[in-house]
Amino acid sequence: MVLFIPEEKIIEIKNTADIIDIISESVLLKKSGRNHLGLCPFHSEKTPSFTVSYEKQVFYCFGCGAGGNIFVYLMRKEGFTFPEAVKYVAEKYGIDITVEKTSPGKINKISEKDNILLINKQAMDFFKGCLFSGGSGNRALSYLTKRKITEKIIRDYQLGFAPDSWNVLINFFTKQNVSTSLIEKAGLIIRKNKSEGFYDRFRNRIIFPIFDMNSKVIGFGGRVMDDSLPKYLNSPETIVFNKSQSLYGLNIAKNDCRISETVFIVEGYFDLLSLHKNGIKNSVATLGTSISSEHVKILRSIIGKDGKFILVYDSDEAGIKAAQRSIEIFDKGFADARILVLPAGYDPDSYLIEFGLEAFKNAVSCAQSTVSFLMDSAIINYGLSVEGKIRIISELVKILSSIGDKVARALYVRELSEKIYIDEAALHERIMEALSDIKQGKFINKSDPDPVSNKNNVKGYELGNTMQEEQQKRSRLERQIIAMMLQFPEMVPEIIKRDLLNGFTDDVLKSIGYAIIEHINLSETNSENIMPLFDGDDVKNSIVAFLSIKDEAWDRKSCLRLITQFEFIYKRNKDTSTNKIKEAEETKDDKLLLELLREKQIQAANKKTSRLKALGGKTLW
Ligand code: CTP
Ligand code: MN
Repeated sequence: MVLFIPEEKIIEIKNTADIIDIISESVLLKKSGRNHLGLCPFHSEKTPSFTVSYEKQVFYCFGCGAGGNIFVYLMRKEGFTFPEAVKYVAEKYGIDITVEKTSPGKINKISEKDNILLINKQAMDFFKGCLFSGGSGNRALSYLTKRKITEKIIRDYQLGFAPDSWNVLINFFTKQNVSTSLIEKAGLIIRKNKSEGFYDRFRNRIIFPIFDMNSKVIGFGGRVMDDSLPKYLNSPETIVFNKSQSLYGLNIAKNDCRISETVFIVEGYFDLLSLHKNGIKNSVATLGTSISSEHVKILRSIIGKDGKFILVYDSDEAGIKAAQRSIEIFDKGFADARILVLPAGYDPDSYLIEFGLEAFKNAVSCAQSTVSFLMDSAIINYGLSVEGKIRIISELVKILSSIGDKVARALYVRELSEKIYIDEAALHERIMEALSDIKQGKFINKSDPDPVSNKNNVKGYELGNTMQEEQQKRSRLERQIIAMMLQFPEMVPEIIKRDLLNGFTDDVLKSIGYAIIEHINLSETNSENIMPLFDGDDVKNSIVAFLSIKDEAWDRKSCLRLITQFEFIYKRNKDTSTNKIKEAEETKDDKLLLELLREKQIQAANKKTSRLKALGGKTLW
């Protein structure tokens, strides 16, 4: 049955329910000041730090950082899905939610996108059922066992099996009156060429459901269990499935990615499952496509500005190709992107199975930056004869000059000069020449950055130049602004007007801010309704809960002061060293340029140290 609860209904349920009531079912709460306190059900503690606010209708644990609204609580405590949590609350308060069965008339009311997501979810459950219902499902199970996939992994990743049939899935859906046109739009069935009707896309394959960040099923991958071709078959692109924006495993990996500020990127489904099984949960897989700048943008918003990307490839050829594209993809070299090429014949899965986790970790510790990797590949390729060096330089100059981060560029220039025994200053000069060629348009750069990532570059650059305290001040202000939006929503229009969020450096806070703006239009009245719910994103829910539960006395004047302060700092950052460097570059004052770069380098190193220190604590910031 296709379940759908309309947005207005959810708001009604949320407004009727009382979080104190619901949480009191499982936690002993005591009133303390304006809030209620109890022992946190999500971690073990002796003194209560689990705080529930009646006014805000949120909970937040100052011990472990868990937080969110009533639905988040039930999802975490009872393991409910979002609709299950909504249903539970509705039933408790006697609110009628009609569970609609899909019929052609009714289904039109729901947006097509939601319908496709629902159909995908049902298909996933169907495939899961087939894996465990004996018969040919047993063959699939034993294939998975042979590939060392554990039951836990099967469950966590909701793997399934599509039986060897042309119509089981289509029959399953048509029995429920789901229209074939919708199933086709979900990519699950294919129109017959010669006759009327459709047939199932996935037949006799192991099924890997592909999720978005919020654990909604957006598509599927299917693998044969023998040597037949194609080995893998994926859902086509649909209105909910875009391969260059989707990453397999991200829904599960995101928290670990955020905590470790690192993400491993592999190429295969089984590679990903193998890494997760071995406890390397901060890993994702691309879906039969190479990594795109959209992927990088998404991952970067999770691992943070200084986060680390580690690409794992199973051949030199794939590695070199990816490394060459990486400058363009990884923010023109601003990102810390490393590459690990496994020995010939091994992919992460087979490597882990044969050599184990320790060996893999050792290999990871030797992962090189993509640029160093390209240098070494060129050296191996061309050798260190005079001619070889000339070829190496001409290949690397292109790459080095397209690195936007000047400090990184300077460091790589030094590295290359040391590797091939060429004078650093001479090499630097070559790069400068290439750069001025680019500026004068002599060199058509096909990989012109898009406006968004370009803007990011500028920002990352400025930040590197600001003082450490300045950065801290700035993120404190960003948090305060989000708190203000949550606690004093009448300022939200002002924030929209001044486009304040645009200047945020913390991508998570920024996306929360935008979600609030998006959400606030939905409900004009009750202030608690402006709290967006990030389905499946514990980190964001917890930040929102924390920032709304934290009491502050807001009035219009103090809000405006805060906004002005933020704008002032934002502007000041824009004006300072960035411009100095630009000027030095334009006037070809190499000496000054190097000085400024060195300064930036020291500041960047300081920043990193303080960040690491800050991360030692429990809280998220
Ligand atoms: N892929 C695909 N379509 C194909 C082949 C591959 O989408 N016809 C994608 C899949 O995501 C696959 C990845 O590319 O996981 C890597 O493919 P490959 O290296 O050929 O296979 P493995 O992942 O090693 O698969 P297995 O270990 O199952 O053989
Ligand atoms: Mn493999």
